[in-house]
Amino acid sequence: MKAVGVFPVERRYEVIDHPEPKISASGQVKLRMLEVGVCGTDKEIVSFEYGNPPEGEHYLILGHEALAEVVDVTDGVKGLKPGDLAVPTVRRPCGVASCVACNHSRQDFCYTGHFTERGINGRHGFMAEYIVENDVNLNAVPRALRPVAVLVEPLTIAEKGMAQYWSVQTRLPFSIAEPGQPRGTGQRAVVLGGGPVGLLGAMKLVLEGFDTYIYSLSPKGSDLPGMAASFGAKFVPAETVTIPQLGEMVGNIDVVYEATGVSSLAYNVMKVLGSNGAFILTGVPALHGHKPVDIDPIMRDQVLKNQVVIGTVNAGKQTFADAITDLTEFYRRWPKSVASLITSRFPIDNVKEPLSGTVPGIKSIITVAN
Ligand code: BGC
Ligand code: ZN
Repeated sequence: MKAVGVFPVERRYEVIDHPEPKISASGQVKLRMLEVGVCGTDKEIVSFEYGNPPEGEHYLILGHEALAEVVDVTDGVKGLKPGDLAVPTVRRPCGVASCVACNHSRQDFCYTGHFTERGINGRHGFMAEYIVENDVNLNAVPRALRPVAVLVEPLTIAEKGMAQYWSVQTRLPFSIAEPGQPRGTGQRAVVLGGGPVGLLGAMKLVLEGFDTYIYSLSPKGSDLPGMAASFGAKFVPAETVTIPQLGEMVGNIDVVYEATGVSSLAYNVMKVLGSNGAFILTGVPALHGHKPVDIDPIMRDQVLKNQVVIGTVNAGKQTFADAITDLTEFYRRWPKSVASLITSRFPIDNVKEPLSGTVPGIKSIITVAN
């Protein structure tokens, strides 16, 4: 079958012929891949800056943001049958007996760092015609979500971040919304970055009732102000509005959702985080060296304003289920906005184009099958 193989030692990647996987144990599901999203992590992997093939193998099959259709199931499988749509989780447990997180199927909180990730670290990914996966790593997706369900995995980033936000903010029982109101009602959120992770995070914040501002540069040819307005967020252009002005404009910022990975931007915005606020970091900076930031005012405020910084990566199975529920609601409320997050689709043979970094727009998708 066709697959996208990355050969780090030879520093090349291309569409290769890879043996079609077969169901071999109870609980396994065989899936036909429909679509796979392309993200910054994939671009790093094809620049050989990140990622590893499975142990003892020369190449890694790329791809971790997937939508697939079940073609075959073994006896033990419950809740999935041929024809169903499913989204796989990415990370697999480390297998170290003492890792309580992995033992509780929360490998997204793995302690040892020896976890694997499909399409990223030590395990083949989803840019292939077929995959085999255990049912415990799959979430069923309603048919109605078919056009946009490839966005489930990037949405899990926001879902996991916000779940942690709410568990931290139970410390503020007086700021809980009125019964019947979304729980962020009356709170103010700033999203950094207008890429897919930022925009999906902004949709989640709007759904939760936050007054939501997206602070971002406006890439040529994009209509981020229009996109933000279409689902009830406000766009603040980073070219003309300074960070202190952003702080004045918003008022007490309860939460910042960082989705750029630019450390100097993130830590300068931390200076305008509000009292009792939380700063959620999702973007991973390259270790290339950024501008220095004066951290004394940041540390002062963290203490004097009871602030919290939450770093968050990867997501567990329940978080994927939550993402499917919320994406269904986004798509019901804002069908055009959600659909227009996907700005280009490429056949698997043209995989190099979206990975080259020259394709404008928000999210590029590889179409493996229809
Ligand atoms: C993926 C996560 C993964 C992380 C680090 C991200 O692009 O969405 O699932 O844990 O990269 O490898
Ligand atoms: Zn990704």
